[in-house]
Amino acid sequence: MTTPAKRVAELREQIAFHAARYFVEDSPVIPDADYDQLVKELIALETDHPELVAENSPSLRVGAPTSTAFSPVAHGQPMLSLDNVFDESELREWSERLVRSLGREDVELSIEPKIDGLALSILYVDGGYSVSATRGDGRVGEDVTANVATMASVPQRLQGVTSTGRIEVRGEVYIDKAAFAQLNASLAKAGERLFANPRNTAAGSLRQKDSTATARRPLSFLAYQLVILEGHEELAEITGHDQALAALDSFGFSVAPTVRHVRGERAMIDAAGWFEDHRHDLPYEIDGVVIKATRLADRDLLGSTSRAPRWAIARKLPPEERTTTLLSIEVSIGRTGRATPYAVLEPVVVAGSTVSMATLHNQDQVRAKDVRPGDRVIVRKAGDVIPEVVAHVPLAGVTRASEWQFPQHCPECQGLLERTGDESDTYCINPACPAQTREQIVHFASRSAMDIEGLGEQRVVQLLSSGLIRDVADLYALGVETLQELEGLGRLSATALVEAITLSRAQPLSRVLIGLGIRHVGPVAARNIATTFPTIDELVHASSDALAAVDGVGAVIAASVVSFMEDSENRLLLERLAARGLLLREPEQTVDVAQTLTGKAVVVTGSLEGYSRDEAEAAIVGRGGTSPGSVSKKTFCVVVGEAPGASKVTKAADLGIPVVSAEGFAFLLETGEIS
Ligand code: IVH
Repeated sequence: MTTPAKRVAELREQIAFHAARYFVEDSPVIPDADYDQLVKELIALETDHPELVAENSPSLRVGAPTSTAFSPVAHGQPMLSLDNVFDESELREWSERLVRSLGREDVELSIEPKIDGLALSILYVDGGYSVSATRGDGRVGEDVTANVATMASVPQRLQGVTSTGRIEVRGEVYIDKAAFAQLNASLAKAGERLFANPRNTAAGSLRQKDSTATARRPLSFLAYQLVILEGHEELAEITGHDQALAALDSFGFSVAPTVRHVRGERAMIDAAGWFEDHRHDLPYEIDGVVIKATRLADRDLLGSTSRAPRWAIARKLPPEERTTTLLSIEVSIGRTGRATPYAVLEPVVVAGSTVSMATLHNQDQVRAKDVRPGDRVIVRKAGDVIPEVVAHVPLAGVTRASEWQFPQHCPECQGLLERTGDESDTYCINPACPAQTREQIVHFASRSAMDIEGLGEQRVVQLLSSGLIRDVADLYALGVETLQELEGLGRLSATALVEAITLSRAQPLSRVLIGLGIRHVGPVAARNIATTFPTIDELVHASSDALAAVDGVGAVIAASVVSFMEDSENRLLLERLAARGLLLREPEQTVDVAQTLTGKAVVVTGSLEGYSRDEAEAAIVGRGGTSPGSVSKKTFCVVVGEAPGASKVTKAADLGIPVVSAEGFAFLLETGEIS
């Protein structure tokens, strides 16, 4: 039987192992959430059995011993860690303790993102860049001065500082999501192994022996703490975190634009909740929210333990990564014939839902991630995105299956699978493949296309296997009498389905174009094409030049439309759809919103309250404007929401393009003017 003493010893050993993998080698083998769980269990056991607390317990320590590759640097003041809470009630308990200790209710609190990167302390002497150090064990870190000097977001001189003294600026080094995706995409293209996640990549990039290697990585730095070690008397006027952040900003650092300064528990809970809701809108990954006492005087009163300050707490957010076993790798065929490998997993709860399948994207990704059946793998599910397998967990002494091979034949029709040129995707090239037919019909009926309610994958499979349909045109010949004979479909639902199909006859031409799944034709191109060629006759005869001239349609889309329309089978299908009563025309646009933004390009950056990214763009386009992804001379204005992209804001400033706040957005839509 495991005794508490044995378990404590076991936990210490495991924590020491994983801490070394995380802090020293930058290649953890378990997700952070699993590590936190181990520490939590150890702390609980040590609290229940104080006799088991050892001086060297990892529960008392911050981080891990430093590696020998870099010279040691002693921090001017210890770099502490943060204690964690995992839900709202634990957060309330923390704030109640704070209120009790300080003896007042409405304590000023600052709420900020807990960026998933690594802590860095930068020493400035007389306002000049001097030494950069990682956290290390909290007292002594590693000297990464040369590497950090290559980072554009770290100023070489503190702007506006003329006094003398020594300051440490602390913050987080990270790689933002977009830069990380780009980095991995270029690695995948080069056939190289991918990075597992932005945090480890940032850590690895910072701890390169050769600083030119660091310079090539897209590292960013966000400052969240100012430590005055000596001199700079004018900075003694800073009495709160809000002022400290403003000072850091004026020195030339980025600070999180989403930091909120509030009073009391209710406002704290709301502000922390905002980060939970907007986690996926932020440009960087966060693993929690940090809540800090704003006033420095309060911080002094509260003090710190050897591990963490009592004046701050990390509210950890539900982990989006988990480990599980990869049972097998299968391949599914999509409507275009694309063969997508996916992982069949031992079910695991990730970010609140059970995951038993996860995409592996394509052949290169499987190779780059080197995952094999039987492996322990890290599974990730962020927001609404499809769960994916991130990497495998290397385990010592375990024999792995041999490398997985992409099948040569389609799992559904046994036809040949083909990969051409430098495409990363593999296709089933049999146009009669039943999987493709099925997926085409499912797509045709889907919400974004013909929107036929009640016609999901299962129903389509049933209709196909009972021989009632062979393609989408057959849907429009279905009657209640036949349908109600099908298993699970009574008269009522058969009638409802026929009605839904009937209704879809009136869908505008643009929806039909989306539904037909013409390569490269998305909703925006479909709408623009159908507006220019509002009847199927006009469209069938449109030249590729005329098509390419349509807004949002280039040569590639134009060629794809022309080749679709020239194909005799597709022509036949269109004729059958027309014969079965489909409208196949684009009704003239009824303009019910004022076209306030006609001819104006409005760039949106950051998240705007009340609008998703798509909704904000739709609001602009719906008023006659365009919403390009980048700022140029032609940009009318830039709408800046929470957590904006720094490059867009800087570019706007450089080009003298007006900037509109989130609040000014409504006015802009309504009037087309800048408030
Ligand atoms: S404050 C004594 N603020 O989280 C104050 N830390 O788990 C300690 N982190 O080592 C840090 N975002 O690497 C603070 N806004 C933030 C943070 C943050 C991320 C990291 C930091 C720290 C770790 C503690």
